[in-house]
Amino acid sequence: MRVHVADHPLITHKLTVLRDKNTASATFRALTEELVTLLAYEATRNVRVNEVTIETPVATTTGVALSEPRPLVVPILRAGLGMLEGMVKLVPTAEVGFLGMVRNEETLEPSTYAERLPDDLSDRQCFVLDPMLATGGSLGAAIDFLFKRGAIDVTAICLLAAPEGVAALEKRTAGRDVTLVLGALDEKLNELGYIIPGLGDAGDRLYGTV
Ligand code: PRP
Ligand code: URA
Repeated sequence: MRVHVADHPLITHKLTVLRDKNTASATFRALTEELVTLLAYEATRNVRVNEVTIETPVATTTGVALSEPRPLVVPILRAGLGMLEGMVKLVPTAEVGFLGMVRNEETLEPSTYAERLPDDLSDRQCFVLDPMLATGGSLGAAIDFLFKRGAIDVTAICLLAAPEGVAALEKRTAGRDVTLVLGALDEKLNELGYIIPGLGDAGDRLYGTV
């Protein structure tokens, strides 16, 4: 698994505002979208393209176009939905599938409650969006799901991760083509499975407490 941790003062600045418990949902949503667009730039570095020939007003030249099948973007509901707009701004022709997952806050085990993805992901590049990688259970299950359907490579974009979750994901995805792009790698998980220092519950911060 390749891990890329963003190292840019603008990203760190925006993450600092997200982490602040006094930041309201509206600002939190706007910043999440901006952060994803910045991270997506790195995450799509190896997006597949093919050469095309075009006519400019004055000459013939070659350039590139995104290859078919088009990339698939998969936000993990609920919190990943807050990252979707920021991603499709950068890759407007991508297709979008959805996975709904929720972590049991006692056992920390994820369960899947919704799935809306193409049946066959053969030859697809997939981009999974989830702001938080804590134990890695949710993202690991999502990645397993995509490879079972035939995906050729998966890139996950997360705003924050705990080292414990990165290590678990590394083990779980061994031998597979997986890239993880992070806004920041935090210190640790606490005894309740929350990322420290983190930003709290991303879904609640985006959408309000359920
Ligand atoms: C959060 C987050 C991840 C998961 C991370 O979702 O968005 O999906 O927890 O934890 P893990 O790495 O230990 O699996 P949550 O289950 O709270 O659901 P929500 O998005 O509906 O709030
Ligand atoms: N899910 C969250 O939303 N935040 C955490 O810190 C851990 C899991």
